[in-house]
Amino acid sequence: MSRHSTEYDDDDFSMDDDSCSVASSCMNGARSVSTTATSHDWEMRSASPAPSMYSVTSSFYGRGINNYSDVYRLPADDEEFERLDLQHVMFSEVMGRYAQPLPEVLADDGRPKAVVDLGCGSGSWILDVAKDFPHCSAVAVDLVPMQNVSEVDDINLGLQHFYDSFDVAHARLVSSGIRDYNGLIDEMTQTLRPRGLIHLIEFDFRVYDSKHRPILPAHGGPKEPAALARWMNLVNVAVEQRGGEPDAANHLQRWITAHPSLEDVVYREFWFPTCPWARGTTPEALRHNRTGAMMRDDILAFLKSGRPLLLSSDLNPDLVAEIEADAERELLEAKAHTYIRVQNVYARRKAQ
Ligand SMILES: C[S@@+](CC[C@H](N)C(=O)[O-])C[C@H]1O[C@@H](n2cnc3c(N)ncnc32)[C@H](O)[C@@H]1O
Repeated sequence: MSRHSTEYDDDDFSMDDDSCSVASSCMNGARSVSTTATSHDWEMRSASPAPSMYSVTSSFYGRGINNYSDVYRLPADDEEFERLDLQHVMFSEVMGRYAQPLPEVLADDGRPKAVVDLGCGSGSWILDVAKDFPHCSAVAVDLVPMQNVSEVDDINLGLQHFYDSFDVAHARLVSSGIRDYNGLIDEMTQTLRPRGLIHLIEFDFRVYDSKHRPILPAHGGPKEPAALARWMNLVNVAVEQRGGEPDAANHLQRWITAHPSLEDVVYREFWFPTCPWARGTTPEALRHNRTGAMMRDDILAFLKSGRPLLLSSDLNPDLVAEIEADAERELLEAKAHTYIRVQNVYARRKAQ
C-alpha cells in the first residue's frame, strides 16, 4: 500500500497536489487538520485559520512519533505501519474480516452509507471497507496524516462534528492514546445513525499463562518464563502514566452494555499464542503455529515500537534493554506457552 511519508518537513507539508489537498485549523489550542483525500470530502473540524506549515512527527529515540498527542507515544513511521499491516492480516484471519452485522448494515440499499475508523493507523481496516463496500463514504481519523486519512485529529477532543453521521464507527487498539475510553464510547455512539454499529477491539497490555491467568510483575522465576510479561507490564504502566487507558479492553463489555443508547451487544474474546509451540501436523496444530508465528513477529516488532515509550518513562535504560532482550529470546525459543488476549465488543445504536 502506498502512503505519504510521515516524516514531513515543513516544505513537504506545504505541498499542494491533485491527489490530496491539505488544510489546517486550530481548536481548543490543539491542531486539527483535515485532508481531503482522493474521492471523499469531509467537513473540516474547524474553519479557524492557522499556520499550515509544521512537522507532524519528530524523531524520538530513533523512531517517528506524532507531535500532537502527549498521551500516545507509540511510533508513527513506516516500520510501525508495516507492523500494523501484518497485524491486520493476522486479526482478519483469526477474528474474521468484519463483525457479523457489518455487511448488512453497510448493504447498498439506496440510502447513503458512511463508516468512520478512529485511530486508523496505516489504514488497513478502512481500506478493506472502502474496497468491499465502494458505495460507502469511508472516513479515517488519526493523529498523523497519511494517504487515505480523511481527518487528522485527536479524538480525545470529542466527535461533535460527526454526530449522527455514520452507519459504522470502528476503533481498534487505540486505548493507549485515549484519556477517557468510556467517554469515547459515548462520543462514538453519538456519531451513529439509528441502528448504526459501534465496533471496538482492544488488548490489555498483559500476557496470560497457559490457563489464561494474567502473569503479573510479582510472578516469574526460573521455572516460569515471564520476561515478555514483565516487559508488557512495563508498557502497561507507562501508558497509564501518560494518561492512556491500557486496561480499557477489560471494561469494554460493561461500558457498552451500560450505555443507554446501545443494544444487541456482542462480546468476543480471542486468545493469541505468543509464539508457535504446538507439536504435530494436525490442522489445529498448524493453525495454532501459523497464528503463533504471526503474533511472535508482531510482538518482536512491538518490542521495538515500545522502546521510545519506555525510555521516556523513569525507567533505567539498561533494565529496559535487558528485559527486552530476555523477552525476545523467550519468544524465539518458543518455550513459554503464553497468550495475548484480544477483546471485541460490538453493538447497535437504538432506533430511538
Ligand atoms: C496501535 S495503532 C492501531 C491502528 C489501527 N487502528 C489498527 O488496528 O491497525 C493506534 C493508532 O491510533 C492512533 N491514535 C491513538 N490515540 C489517538 C487519538 N487520541 N486520536 C487520534 N488517533 C489516535 C495512533 O496514532 C495510531 O495510529
